[in-house]
Amino acid sequence: MNLDFFFTPKSVAIIGASNRKGSMGYVFMNNITQAGYKGEIYPINPKEDEVFGLKAYKNIKDISADVDLAVVLIPAKSVPEVMTDCGEKGLKGAVVIAGGFAEVGDEGARLQEKLQEVSERYGIRTLGPNCFGLYNCNIGLNVSLALGSPERGGRISLITQSGAYGMAIYTFALDHSMKFAKIIAPGNKSDLQDYELLSYLGSDKETNVICILAETISKGREFFEVAKEITPKKPVIVVKTGRTEGSRRAAISHTASLAGNLEAYRAAFVQSGIIEVRSGLDMIELAKALDFQPLPKGKRVGIVTNSGGTGVELTDLLEESGLSVPELPEESQSSLKSVLPAYASPKNPIDVTTLWSQFTELYSKSIASLFECPEIDIIMPILLQRSAMMKEVVESVRDTVIHYQREMKVKKPVYVCWVSTREYLNNMEILQSAGIPCFEWPERTARIAGYVAGYADYLQKIDNSEAIYALPQNELGKEKAASILNKVSKEGRNYVLEPEVKQILSLYGIRVTKERVCSSIDEAISTANEIGYPVVLKIVSPEVIHKSDFGGVEIGIKDDSELKEAYTRILKNVQSNTPDAKINGISVQEMAKGKEVMIGSVKDQDFGPLMVFGMGGIFVEAVRDVSYRLAPVTESEAEQMIEEIRNYSLLKGYRGERGVNLEKLRDSIARVSLLLVDFPEINEMDLNPVFVNENEAIVADGRMFI
Ligand SMILES: Nc1ncnc2c1ncn2[C@@H]1O[C@H](COP(=O)(O)OP(=O)(O)OP(=O)(O)O)[C@@H](O)[C@H]1O
Ligand SMILES: [Mg+2]
Repeated sequence: MNLDFFFTPKSVAIIGASNRKGSMGYVFMNNITQAGYKGEIYPINPKEDEVFGLKAYKNIKDISADVDLAVVLIPAKSVPEVMTDCGEKGLKGAVVIAGGFAEVGDEGARLQEKLQEVSERYGIRTLGPNCFGLYNCNIGLNVSLALGSPERGGRISLITQSGAYGMAIYTFALDHSMKFAKIIAPGNKSDLQDYELLSYLGSDKETNVICILAETISKGREFFEVAKEITPKKPVIVVKTGRTEGSRRAAISHTASLAGNLEAYRAAFVQSGIIEVRSGLDMIELAKALDFQPLPKGKRVGIVTNSGGTGVELTDLLEESGLSVPELPEESQSSLKSVLPAYASPKNPIDVTTLWSQFTELYSKSIASLFECPEIDIIMPILLQRSAMMKEVVESVRDTVIHYQREMKVKKPVYVCWVSTREYLNNMEILQSAGIPCFEWPERTARIAGYVAGYADYLQKIDNSEAIYALPQNELGKEKAASILNKVSKEGRNYVLEPEVKQILSLYGIRVTKERVCSSIDEAISTANEIGYPVVLKIVSPEVIHKSDFGGVEIGIKDDSELKEAYTRILKNVQSNTPDAKINGISVQEMAKGKEVMIGSVKDQDFGPLMVFGMGGIFVEAVRDVSYRLAPVTESEAEQMIEEIRNYSLLKGYRGERGVNLEKLRDSIARVSLLLVDFPEINEMDLNPVFVNENEAIVADGRMFI
């Protein structure tokens, strides 16, 4: 994706440039002329001859030289016309700042469509409308509403849906010695989409860490695919806001009530290695950790502290975030003993006690021993009160870290846990300006370290994960499945009946109950004898969706006489509940045994098929013990789905009770995911229950909507 004309344009036209202080045209002219941008700047203003001392043009078409980028500051209603001029001039890119488009209602939406038409007609890539603009800090390009000129040399890039909040985060970051490469506020995303910006930043040599603050992500599936390619090379951090409002769609199946849009986002993040964080502050602090320091090789943390209590709290919080604080090996302990006061602990946390007259040496030696200890992956000095206040201590921490990281080339990250009053923020900056990140209080330090560890985990897992689970090639099966679905839609139904669903599943190599739909008691009896008692009887009718609610299911039928009674009862129940129901017959099924789980799917509007796995039976909605992944899933993703549920231990086996055949279950999940990819017309699916026992996984009920 080449978007260089946005980020390194040779020339920029400011349409609506102005000399009038306080106007937008003034702010933009001020920003672009102050930040040190070296390309040509063309102010466009029909009423002026000069703006900011530069020759002004009445129309962009009056400029004889080529123009790469236009920044459009005029009000919404005139934008399509001006964009037409830009198109005729042959512009490659435009940033449309004005609001008053899709965000204000129908009329605005129509205007936005018009804008998009023009963009497409002339092939102008358009950022916005209703956006804050963009920054390329490293060439001093500020075409945004934000004041000030950014510092150069940054490696963090930010895509922010909220311009103002993004800028607040940005300025917070500046206070913490962080520097940025590119900042983009994509606004309404009429043309330029999130995945395109992500893809650009993914291959941008000046960007090492990508941050995204988003309420919604446009073209979710494309975004997901692009992210998967980038995260093995550079971290992508996302904070998805608007998490709690998402209302759940009216549910027909169990799965639909369990899987909303947020779950699809989450699955996309998890499967593509995106680090999802809770807030803007988390995002920026994590970016600091990843930008300043190398990734850890493992999760073992070594702590040095002058406060035992703080060390204990940090240990708790770290272990709760998935890291560990192991006791140091004998060798490290004995070398530390020769340095530390007799009553100090060399175990981990290394407690240097309150002997502040020797802090400089104690911190430096303890940190050195952690760098040298092969059983430690992350170093966390706690600088609290006195150790934070003493400049010489802070400087010796800095020098020790620099010595090991830069001169000895030890690639071990250091995160400082900082606890002090504001008065000593200058000392904190001694560390941060040297690339050693500080996090205030154990809480924030542990939270950020937890995110880092999660990302390191992901990287390790993808290294040895296999490609998408491959079915034994069975094109015939796919064709037959297609013809079953065709027949359903020809009959004007969107509800695929249980026997049809099961046929389709078995064509995909998924084990379902042995069964036959019967239309008489005699046929049912001979079928039951063929299958072998006990059996299950179920109504088959396009009008009956929840069969047992209608008295349409009888299980554990032991012999011919029980079968006769059950058969009659089911027909009677259904006829009295829904007299007009068309009855296709009664399904006589093998009675499956094992633990009940469910496999389901919904089609997410942004991300495509989203799978749900959980404990099955009637409690699934009440307990919500489920996990999510986007289809298709790899073998290891199917495995993660099973392992993530709270009741995993019930499946795995506990206290001598044998577990179920997890491999067969994983296989079924992976096969279902392929079915979903092959048939995008499947809107919802609900396999509930699937029985799993020591030997196999058997689908006992299936329902599908197309
Ligand atoms: N073949 C079978 N072997 C064993 N038990 C079965 C079988 N079929 C159904 N059951 C049991 O009967 C219950 C109800 O059956 P089924 O799921 O087919 O009906 P349903 O009304 O469609 O259910 P729901 O609407 O709750 O999904 C199942 O949850 C399961 O416990
Ligand atoms: Mg069911």
